[in-house]
Amino acid sequence: MNQYSKDITILAIESSCDDTSASIIRNKTVLSNETAGQKIHEQYGGVVPELASRAHQQNIIPVVESAINNAGISKSQIDAVAFTKGPGLMGSLLVGVSFAKSFAQSLAIPMIDVNHMKAHVLAHMIESPDQKNPEFPFLCLTVSGGHTQIVLVKSPMKMEVIGSTIDDAAGEAFDKAAKILGLPYPGGPLIDKHAKNGDPFMFEFPKPRVDGLNMSFSGLKTSFLYFTQNHPEAVDQNFDDVCASIQHTIVSYTLGKLKKAAKKHGITQLAIAGGVSANSYIRTELEKMCKKHGWDAFIPPFQYCTDNAGMIAITAHYQYLANDFCDLSIKASPRLAIT
Ligand code: KG4
Ligand code: ZN
Repeated sequence: MNQYSKDITILAIESSCDDTSASIIRNKTVLSNETAGQKIHEQYGGVVPELASRAHQQNIIPVVESAINNAGISKSQIDAVAFTKGPGLMGSLLVGVSFAKSFAQSLAIPMIDVNHMKAHVLAHMIESPDQKNPEFPFLCLTVSGGHTQIVLVKSPMKMEVIGSTIDDAAGEAFDKAAKILGLPYPGGPLIDKHAKNGDPFMFEFPKPRVDGLNMSFSGLKTSFLYFTQNHPEAVDQNFDDVCASIQHTIVSYTLGKLKKAAKKHGITQLAIAGGVSANSYIRTELEKMCKKHGWDAFIPPFQYCTDNAGMIAITAHYQYLANDFCDLSIKASPRLAIT
């Protein structure tokens, strides 16, 4: 039981990019987490913002309904409605924000605006049997399709970005490499799949040189493109090895930066979050690195790696406890940063 005399039940909505997701959380336990993906973007090789926004409009009501039904609660038991304020695509965010406003007004309950990047990190605080929770402070490497950051997490509400990419995100590096190899969007999971049968050390790609804890991925994409143009036989005959090698380069580079951050800040609890944390190689490599140094590794269950409303819900839970609500004047914020 929390500091309040009753349980806190929150409906959370995530609609920042191309997944429409809704979740019901009671205290720190997720009762339901329903997501509708959008297949439409596959044929375009990337997310088309206007189509994403339209698909969110079609998906949001059925997704919210199934989240409420699968949680086995009624609407009258919901204490607050949370939504992603940003960062993300304006047209996509607007659907979640507008829905939350109408839902809050119709039930006369408060609204909570959530930062998507903080939420990826706080997904680690969801209480469930298949997940262990870090203690504060911890470090989180958030690697998604739009962002790559190393976050020093001092408390649920206090986070500091201590390193980030200066150009592409790690997920983008995966997706662009996949596109060069002729794989459909999003290519990250397909590289992961092929890499399972490949040798990660067969081909070497130059690791970008960026000082401190910052990272860069755009040069890697270019050198990978030249490699495939200069060595078409490698792509033809050693496709899985090429996938394993580019995956190894991206993963060892980002984990190397996380290791540097851990040593610099003397923190021994290391977490990964975001879509790329679903990658099987980064999961095992983080475990290995932490074991070697006597550190603790925190790896989210798959359903909380890629975009999901469960992570918005747990963040909203902490904001509820801190009385951090918003009113109807709230606006979506596509470039919202961690402050
Ligand atoms: O966090 P997310 O769902 O959406 C954003 O907020 O961007 O991350 C999506 C990214 C995509 O780039 C996708 O290719 C990548 O995560 N991703 C993966 C894997 N699963 C998703 N990358 C590598 N291996 C995977 N298994
Ligand atoms: Zn995300």
